[in-house]
Amino acid sequence: MTVDRAVIPVAGLGTRLLPTTKAIPKEMLPAGRLPIIHHVVEELIAAGIRRILFVSSRTKIALENHFDDYSELMMHLELDGHEMREVGRFDYRKRGVEFYFTRQQVPLGQTKPLGTGDAVAASESFVGDASFVVAFGDSIIRSTESAPLLERMIDSHARNGSACTIATCEVPKNLVQHYGIVIPRHGEADLDDCGLSDIVEKPEPGVTSSRLAVSARYVFSSRIFDEIRGVQPSRSGEIYLTDAIRQAITRSQQVRAVRLAPAERRYDIGNHLAYFETFIDYAAADSEYGPQIIAYMEQKLEELRRASNAS
Ligand code: UTP
Repeated sequence: MTVDRAVIPVAGLGTRLLPTTKAIPKEMLPAGRLPIIHHVVEELIAAGIRRILFVSSRTKIALENHFDDYSELMMHLELDGHEMREVGRFDYRKRGVEFYFTRQQVPLGQTKPLGTGDAVAASESFVGDASFVVAFGDSIIRSTESAPLLERMIDSHARNGSACTIATCEVPKNLVQHYGIVIPRHGEADLDDCGLSDIVEKPEPGVTSSRLAVSARYVFSSRIFDEIRGVQPSRSGEIYLTDAIRQAITRSQQVRAVRLAPAERRYDIGNHLAYFETFIDYAAADSEYGPQIIAYMEQKLEELRRASNAS
């Protein structure tokens, strides 16, 4: 089974990053030299994805422009003698990658879109009967593994004939209540790739000993659309993807979790602290300016230490 389609939900309001995100989609904020969404798309392409649907909204036009052909700019750069190696990577047509856009509508009388389940539902006609990846547009998975996370997920999904394969990463015990947490089936010894008996959104302390948090990447079979249709909206009217997955588990469908490897990290840029950390890490890893940024951080730390000793 090859998986060549992916859906990127980007229709959220990004309220936690206001006021920046009033006019700029959070997915267009830079991490190092590339917008967040560009890192996400490169991750998908590296895993063999060639057709990408953005589930977008009217405030996210910049994303559409970013992935549009811009032949006059390319020609200008070429004529001007620019080094084309980096810019050539933007030529998605040559790389055999197609982009599609649809919109998640905000229902009349509501103030925001109806959640991640509703966003994925908007991709049904694009997906058809195929298995597909869902990647949240505000999270990067950085990997130096020879088989990166999505590749392992797609492989596990096919080998096990799963209905759903979820990316997870281990979080500290005291943070479990802030995440969607998956619960491995009794007796599952290998948490790198395990069958699940439940998935719980933000569990109260003591509800589970699992520390495996859902991490912004999924592989689904097209059965997920039936599950989403069966989900009851939350009190705020949202349709959570987690509820659709939970329903699949209760119907004895094969739902598995693949864990991030030690050399992998999830960057969720949805809040200011996480975004600042992400930018620093990517700037420090820049092949040209990384050493200077690290030297700057060392100098800055020294200044702060001296100032705190003096006070
Ligand atoms: P989040 O809940 O983290 O994003 O959704 P948000 O709603 O934009 O954030 P806040 O809480 O207002 O700050 C994770 C991903 O799912 C998309 C978001 O754009 C983000 O990439 N999403 C979320 C949708 O596409 N539709 C939705 O209804 C909700």
